[in-house]
Amino acid sequence: MFHLGWFMGSGFSVQTWAGDPWAGTTGRDWMKGGLFIDLAAALERACFDYLLVEDTSMIEDAHGGSMETTLKYGLLGPKNDPVPLIPLLTQRTKHIGIACTLSTSFYHPYMAARTMATLDHLTDGRVGLNVVTGSSRRAAQQYGYDDLEPHDQRYERAHEWMEAVGALWESWEDGAVLVDTETPRYADHTKVHPVDFAGKYFRTRGPLNTIPGPQRRPVIVQAGASAAGRDLAAKYAESMLAHGHSIEAMKAFRADMHRRLKEYGRDPGQLKILFLVEPTLGETDEVARARAEAQQRWARTDEAIERRLWGLSYTSGGTHDFSRYDLDGPVPDVWGNGETSTLRNFVERGQGMTLREALATIDTHSGLAFTGSPDSVAAQMGEAMQEVGGDGFLLSPVVTRRNIAEIADGLAPALRKRGLIRDGYNHSTFRDNLLEF
Ligand SMILES: Cc1cc2nc3c(=O)[nH]c(=O)nc-3n(C[C@H](O)[C@H](O)[C@H](O)COP(=O)(O)O)c2cc1C
Repeated sequence: MFHLGWFMGSGFSVQTWAGDPWAGTTGRDWMKGGLFIDLAAALERACFDYLLVEDTSMIEDAHGGSMETTLKYGLLGPKNDPVPLIPLLTQRTKHIGIACTLSTSFYHPYMAARTMATLDHLTDGRVGLNVVTGSSRRAAQQYGYDDLEPHDQRYERAHEWMEAVGALWESWEDGAVLVDTETPRYADHTKVHPVDFAGKYFRTRGPLNTIPGPQRRPVIVQAGASAAGRDLAAKYAESMLAHGHSIEAMKAFRADMHRRLKEYGRDPGQLKILFLVEPTLGETDEVARARAEAQQRWARTDEAIERRLWGLSYTSGGTHDFSRYDLDGPVPDVWGNGETSTLRNFVERGQGMTLREALATIDTHSGLAFTGSPDSVAAQMGEAMQEVGGDGFLLSPVVTRRNIAEIADGLAPALRKRGLIRDGYNHSTFRDNLLEF
């Protein structure tokens, strides 16, 4: 058996709103949350482990030095804050885990620890936290900084941030809350402790003024795949997003992560590595192949090239304007100061191609190209996971009700029929379900 997650890669944002007959009224009502409530309910029906909501807090304008492309298409923006969405999603579900994203560059550890402890109560122990270091200079400027810190320094800060939030989550001992109505005594003050955390980047006194929730700590998720990102995940995370465009690359990534986990004294089973995939489904293999071919043709259109070029400018953290490079020249060898591992992956795979060709053929987020009927894709996913050795997949299609139905009501039942995914939830918290196998 393997695990399944869904990555809402553009966050609580506009999604597909035009140019797709299945977009519905999303352009006008995405901000109300109904689409994402439908998504969460469907994923629970499909027995997914979790839904992960990306977040960033800016309108990107590195591309072409203007917000035009971003706002013309609605690319990763406009976007709502994901935190208030979480309880809405867990009110309509009973078992699935929901993880939201907070940046260690912008959230003070006290605010983050308190917000997540509150969410752990509101979700009955089903919340997770995707720990990111931020990936855009424009986001840094929203919070009053001139720029993002250099990549490795951001990760140094993130380690300290994790120590600080961890200390706050531990500031109430088990048994501190008494609710003894006779004495009366609400809590035992000898079991509540200041943390007096003083690091290079953060200071916080504690204790948290929020009592521990059912999980005490949210499930920690991490996405960055640079050496520094891998170390952060190896030390603290319980699940990790990973790119894998070949079985060999996926195996090597897992082996590297298991080595790092052992260095931190952790068992490899404590980190569930989920590989990003975007399967192309159809009623039959032929229908699915035709859809995949149509997508490949679309990837060569001016609009698709412009969107992907925008994506590179964004991925560089806003340090490079990819609209300035010659589309018929080589892929520029730059990694930027954002998602460096994603850009590096694109640059390395694009060696020997023109930028145009690389943009048309390399999608760093789409992973192994599974194509076919639900049953064929289920078989392909099963074989791939068997070769890789675990732990599962993170599906990342844009959120449309068609994509939801194809995956929750087509692919997931086919996977379950083959015994490849869980057929129910045995535990009440996100962590206990995730770490069950
Ligand atoms: C798949 C993936 C998803 C990410 N999601 C977010 C996000 O939601 N918000 C954000 O600010 N940064 C996000 N990041 C950025 C990373 O957390 C990290 O801060 C930075 O990109 C460095 O990544 P690297 O270790 O791969 O160089 C994401 C990165 C990757 C690779």
